[in-house]
Amino acid sequence: MAEGERVRERERPPISENPYESVIRQRKALAERNMNGPVVVRGEDREWFQARQGKLRFYLDPVTYKDTPLQQWRVFIHDIKTRSGKHVHQGGLVIYVLEGKGYSIVDGERKDWEKGDLILLPMRPGGVEHQHFNLNPGTPAIWAAFINIPIQEFLASDLQQAENSPDFKEG
Ligand SMILES: [Fe+2]
Repeated sequence: MAEGERVRERERPPISENPYESVIRQRKALAERNMNGPVVVRGEDREWFQARQGKLRFYLDPVTYKDTPLQQWRVFIHDIKTRSGKHVHQGGLVIYVLEGKGYSIVDGERKDWEKGDLILLPMRPGGVEHQHFNLNPGTPAIWAAFINIPIQEFLASDLQQAENSPDFKEG
């Protein structure tokens, strides 16, 4: 670098902080995560937790895991002990059954599934009420959900809990 350039570099006033600069930093961080973030998210690095909806393990979730690429996905597995909570949100997502046999009540209709099946939550005005059941309690019934968050946002999806899982203890 020439001497003149070095002087100019030193004399340049700091760029003042404003929303545009924040966006530039946010875009850089996003690109950085996609370049260098983990390509494999290991199950052992993710905690199981008991939620109102059931026993869950989140792999991707932009609210909790900000260091991964693909911040627009929520991917989690659900271990259905007996039955999940019941809730309502918009569909447009898929659920792949990893283990066991069970069924889901989707807007009042029973839909049976087993290992290897793909469950689709359809898009309906006002969303879809659903609850999941293990047909053989004591034998694992586990599925993985893949939720594209922009789809949920564009559909103005709400999330309303109608009933808690019996495994959830308040407080
Ligand atoms: Fe759901």
